[in-house]
Amino acid sequence: MSATRIILFGPPGVGKGTQAARLRDALKLAHISTGDILRENLKTGTPLGVEAKGYMDAGKLVPDELVIALVRDRLAKPDCDDGFILDGFPRTFEQAEKLDAMLAERGTPIQAVLSFRADEPTLVARISGRRVCRSCGASYHVEFGPSKKGDICEKCDGEVYQRSDDRPEAVAERLRQYVSMSKPLEERYRASGLLREVDGMVSPEAVYQASMSALGA
Ligand code: AP5
Repeated sequence: MSATRIILFGPPGVGKGTQAARLRDALKLAHISTGDILRENLKTGTPLGVEAKGYMDAGKLVPDELVIALVRDRLAKPDCDDGFILDGFPRTFEQAEKLDAMLAERGTPIQAVLSFRADEPTLVARISGRRVCRSCGASYHVEFGPSKKGDICEKCDGEVYQRSDDRPEAVAERLRQYVSMSKPLEERYRASGLLREVDGMVSPEAVYQASMSALGA
């Protein structure tokens, strides 16, 4: 049987969001992207958004307590009862420990952690060419997968823009934060037998096929 409580792990730009959307549709799971939730809060100017903005623009991690609280709220929604994909969470040991505790309370532990791999030049090329729809969040790439309508989203006609943290200054810091704060978590999940490594350097379709097979789907 396919895993239904899944973490997508890996550096910025490796393709977590791209694969999360495909896996969500294929496996009918809730998609929880902490980055998307934070950006939504930023857009609507909530206190969380105001507090997170400085960290995100600088490419730094948002403080654990803020992110943990938003994941706790999101996991309590009924669409998570049949399974979920965590995309971009956890990113620190503190987040991982709190997640385990939250899920232990519910009796619904994580079943698989897909860790996507790509080298740094690939990550930088993907991030710097990424464009995102302001309305529906669809992700494009100026070279690898542009919108057929240019700066307009081909799915919803929304405006396609570049994330402020996709500019070079913030990208370098995001990569540094990943190496120092997040990458060490791989060992934690390897030790618990949950880690499945997936080559993220191939086409999105090939990454998807490898992910499905790693999940037993
Ligand atoms: P977040 O939004 O989570 O950003 P990220 O982890 O840096 O990941 P990205 O969205 O950059 O990349 P991705 O792996 O999803 O790649 P994508 O599929 O888009 O977080 C943003 C910020 O929020 C953080 O810096 C932090 O400040 C804060 N934050 C979020 N979560 C937090 C947490 N838990 N704790 C603390 N702070 C937190 O693909 C990238 C591009 O490549 C796209 O253009 C895509 O079309 C293209 N592409 C994808 N796959 C392929 C492929 N196989 N071949 C060719 N092109 C591809």
